[in-house]
Amino acid sequence: MTTGHVFMAASLDGFVARLDHALDWLMKQKTGGEDHGYDTFMENIDGLVMGSGSFKTVIGFDDWPYKKPVIVMSGSMSEKDIPADLMDSVKLTRLGPKDIMSSLNREGWKRAYVDGGKIVQSFIREGLVEDITISHIPILIGSGIRLFGEIDQDIDLQLQSSRTFGSGLVQSHYTLLKNS
Ligand SMILES: NC(=O)c1ccc[n+]([C@@H]2O[C@H](COP(=O)([O-])OP(=O)(O)OC[C@H]3O[C@@H](n4cnc5c(N)ncnc54)[C@H](OP(=O)(O)O)[C@@H]3O)[C@@H](O)[C@H]2O)c1
Repeated sequence: MTTGHVFMAASLDGFVARLDHALDWLMKQKTGGEDHGYDTFMENIDGLVMGSGSFKTVIGFDDWPYKKPVIVMSGSMSEKDIPADLMDSVKLTRLGPKDIMSSLNREGWKRAYVDGGKIVQSFIREGLVEDITISHIPILIGSGIRLFGEIDQDIDLQLQSSRTFGSGLVQSHYTLLKNS
């Protein structure tokens, strides 16, 4: 089965975006040119699976940031919502998380970057995320879209590494343990 991998930034109080999806709090952080391991992470995935919420944010950026294929999960979008210049690299799906991973497995994907808010929560709930790299930004934004959501049972994680950056960003890499 294709494995799911998460690489996200969150405010210290656990939000990945403001309620209106704004990322201004993240974009204003001074990185000093440091990529925080993002390029290496991207080299090691076959493509991305994201929700319509994240896709709508990303198409608002000046430039399309991905060189790898992107699968967008949505029950409300249609092909006409995909800009013409992205038709070759972006595919829309109504499949659920398990079926997507089976389908990607058949296509030869080994590792998928699972991205978004609700989507990450869905994949975690279904046991499809192998590891999570979370970069905590030293800011409290008070409200927003949560990185983690409700789960039916506890999920144990194992810390693999943790590092700090001059910007104040604290990055931790966890593997999710399979519940017995
Ligand atoms: N801080 C970071 O590192 C980071 C990283 C990624 C994204 N973000 C931001 O975080 C925000 C996340 O917002 P979000 O949670 O709305 O985004 P999302 O997880 O990307 O998209 C959620 C949407 O995907 C669709 N969907 C289809 N199948 C689904 C399923 N099985 N489970 C859940 N959703 C499914 C639903 O919309 P339909 O009505 O279309 O079906 C749902 O509302 C975005 O603004 C994004 O830009 C931040």
